[in-house]
Amino acid sequence: MNRVQTEMFDLAAYLSRNNVLLDRCLAEYLEASADGTRLSEAMRHSLMAGGKRLRPNLCIAACEAVGGDPEGAFPVACAIEMIHTYSLIHDDLPAMDDDQLRRGKPTCHVAFDEATAILAGDALLTLAFHVLASMKTRRPEHALEIIRTIAAAAGPSGMVQGQMIDMQSEGRTLTPEDLQHLHALKTGAMIEAALVAGATAAGGSAQQVDAVREYGRTVGLAFQVVDDILNVEGDPAVMGKAAGTDRVRRKNSYPTLWGLEKSREFAHNLVRAAIESLSDFSFEAEALRAIARYVIERNK
Ligand code: IPE
Ligand code: IPE
Ligand code: MG
Ligand code: MG
Repeated sequence: MNRVQTEMFDLAAYLSRNNVLLDRCLAEYLEASADGTRLSEAMRHSLMAGGKRLRPNLCIAACEAVGGDPEGAFPVACAIEMIHTYSLIHDDLPAMDDDQLRRGKPTCHVAFDEATAILAGDALLTLAFHVLASMKTRRPEHALEIIRTIAAAAGPSGMVQGQMIDMQSEGRTLTPEDLQHLHALKTGAMIEAALVAGATAAGGSAQQVDAVREYGRTVGLAFQVVDDILNVEGDPAVMGKAAGTDRVRRKNSYPTLWGLEKSREFAHNLVRAAIESLSDFSFEAEALRAIARYVIERNK
């Protein structure tokens, strides 16, 4: 792979192509679940609000990187986006980060009410596992492995534990090791799972899955470091969510711990390492490489 080919990859076109299909797929799952009810309206409000769809795109890109047909990864990608959206709805609740704006719209509890937002989150999490368990596959053992991977990443050893530590650490200063652990759990785990699940759906070898997992570990951490940076210097109108909140809530973040410059450098190094972990792949992994670069260049 030479540099010219690398830079020719049109990530914007790749993401918008996938996102049209993902939106269609997600809307169909919503319609088939509880259409027309207040609950489904609340689910739709948050799920169809125009998130970046990073995790489902990583899932699809990982599937392609190991030579799979991306179509097979769509149910997995949609389930991951549902779980991510549930985590955002609950993250924004008054009992947690108490945010009013998400994806450029009022947060779910503001647009509806707190009880409805809690239930919309519960419903999206449950629907995700229904979608996963209903996956049509010629390899049921792959489906089981995908479900296990995603459940582990979302649950008490993954994202939920990360959210718990995030809450417990407000107002205390974590060590760099503990902050990395917090970020790896609250954000990294689901990003890593999206990649591993995509590669597993495509029947990737153990070596391929490991390489993609390592990419996910580093890109996932970089993603949250950049989220911390954007919370300091990002534009709320572009991000569709508030800025400056980490400082107000005395959250642990890389800019607080290390300052902006060192945080940026850390994110760059992580992304460089992520791309290096794909060295055994050729052009099929180009979307993954481009997404890694996007993670640190993004402004939302
Ligand atoms: C925000 O995730 C929450 C984090 C885990 C950092 P995203 O920045 O991917 O949010 P959406 O999906 O684009 O709204
Ligand atoms: C959100 O982390 C992580 C999850 C929802 C699992 P943050 O609270 O730091 O993210 P934003 O800034 O609200 O999107
Ligand atoms: Mg939070
Ligand atoms: Mg938050």
